[in-house]
Amino acid sequence: MCGIIGYSGHREACPILLDGLERLEYRGYDSAGILVSDNGMFHTAKRSGRLSNLRRAVEEHPLRGCCGMGHTRWATHGGPTDENAHPHGTERVMLVHNGIIENYLSLRELLLEQGYSFQSQTDTEIAACYLDYCYHGDPIDAIREALNGIEGAYAFVIMFSDHPNTLYAVRKDGPLLAALGNGENFVASDVTAVIRYTNRYLVLDEGEIAIVTPERIRLIGLDGCEHHKEIQTVTWDVEQAQKDGYEHFMLKEIHEQPDALRHTVSPRVKNGLPDWTGDGLPQDFFARFNRIQIVACGTAMHAGMIGKSVMEKLARIPVEVDIASEFRYRDPILTEDTLVIIVSQSGETADSLAALRLAKARGLATLAIVNVAGSSIAREADYVLYTFAGPEISVASTKAYSVQISLLYMIAFTLGRARGTLSEEQERSLTAQLLSCEKAVRDALALQDQIEASVRPLVDAEHLFFLGRGIDYALACEGSLKLKEISYIHCEAYAAGELKHGTISLITEGTPVIALCTQTALLPKMLSNIKETTARGASVFVIAKQGETISGDVADTVLPLQDFDDLFMPFPAVTVLQLIAYFVARARGCDIDKPRNLAKSVTVE
Ligand code: M6R
Repeated sequence: MCGIIGYSGHREACPILLDGLERLEYRGYDSAGILVSDNGMFHTAKRSGRLSNLRRAVEEHPLRGCCGMGHTRWATHGGPTDENAHPHGTERVMLVHNGIIENYLSLRELLLEQGYSFQSQTDTEIAACYLDYCYHGDPIDAIREALNGIEGAYAFVIMFSDHPNTLYAVRKDGPLLAALGNGENFVASDVTAVIRYTNRYLVLDEGEIAIVTPERIRLIGLDGCEHHKEIQTVTWDVEQAQKDGYEHFMLKEIHEQPDALRHTVSPRVKNGLPDWTGDGLPQDFFARFNRIQIVACGTAMHAGMIGKSVMEKLARIPVEVDIASEFRYRDPILTEDTLVIIVSQSGETADSLAALRLAKARGLATLAIVNVAGSSIAREADYVLYTFAGPEISVASTKAYSVQISLLYMIAFTLGRARGTLSEEQERSLTAQLLSCEKAVRDALALQDQIEASVRPLVDAEHLFFLGRGIDYALACEGSLKLKEISYIHCEAYAAGELKHGTISLITEGTPVIALCTQTALLPKMLSNIKETTARGASVFVIAKQGETISGDVADTVLPLQDFDDLFMPFPAVTVLQLIAYFVARARGCDIDKPRNLAKSVTVE
């Protein structure tokens, strides 16, 4: 969850660290801190709240030195205060940390007995002091010894005052990379933090220590052996990680969906049919399975719900979708003919990674759908299908969802063909329709002004319902998550037919309801359910295909989408839901790209 940046080079470290933190702030923004080493003299600045607070502090009291590290925090142990901001440590050893130290209480006892005292309530300070306790002059020995005693998840960047221009980086269950510049080198949680300076980086493996100086990056294993690995190159540039004239990253990313879809789908279509050879999947890969288990969190899990609908419909294969944090602890029944699909934008979500490891430990085949190249999930899954959405910076996931579902649709087509439920002609026609979703999303984006105007009645809502049936219910879940996440309006998504089994008691005069009616076959049933709410005073906003008859006594507002096959309606419909969330949150003056209490990449359980 937290963001880490480190720099060792020939330039002043402070501006580079602050710049890196700005790009990492989406990972957590409860506090920020930096440490700069001036030939072994540690100077730190830490502030609770947004990075701007730290910037102001550093402007007043500049920190000089060419080596340092920075941290932007998503609080776990200890509130978001100055004292709890990273870096933590002693006069000799300081570190920044992303993760959770699970045995910090027992380490704390041990350290108290040794005479250590603590300034913060964090698990990180305990880890830092424990490292100090293990330090007898050789940083590698100290790291090795400390890691033997530390339990939990971590990405650490560590500095020792008697090794003034060197950063030591090590990780377990948290992302970290080392990036290669010219006469300067970097460490970062992700590549967006350093893309302005270099596009060449090394992903650290677990149990590997990176020793970073201005001249070089050495990688050694915990056994002391030198590691050599391929340098990765980022394929996108710094502009793609900037707002590009949009007011918020979220709006920019919503608008990037048509391109993201094209980049993700087109390279996987050959002769009009899905083709997975570029992804390294064996020819008969999907034919091997009789069950699919999709595991993910949040928006990625909602994408999985759409995948379930489409796969079951087209390929008649049973599909289960699980929330990763539940899957891993419920001892799931998994048969050997099950393919486990992990869906994750970041590829670093702790619960999704743990679910992947569980599936692998049970000997099952695993396939990851991931956006961030080289991320933990991408590296550990048996096979990976990358979504080519480019960097998603806004905490609210938008374009990642569209590309995730596009790949789940393609898998459904391949499965259908492999299982004999689809003919080649049907598969070809479905593939062509999927390719045309790019245009359907553009058409939905063209409704932006109309959406902005029509959401006004929702802006002051205290609570709100999303209703849908079938695939529209899965969409309702995503629409509801998006709106509550960034606007702080309490929303619930309900299967429209289920409302009358309890929840309808919450509908009173003026309660706003957003009703998804994109499935022509289910429209009469939806209209009946909507009427049940209007009879109790609900004010209804309907999203339906153009040309469907929705009378004025059913809906206060109707947002008409271009007519399109029912099966593919999630592409334009989710675009509308994202824009509704965006404009409501904007009208409420919310911090859209960095909603409270959240972080982009959830690398803790
Ligand atoms: O990186 P992941 O796709 O694994 O992240 C999963 C969720 O944390 C994420 O989708 C979250 O729900 C979004 N903030 C929702 O907009």
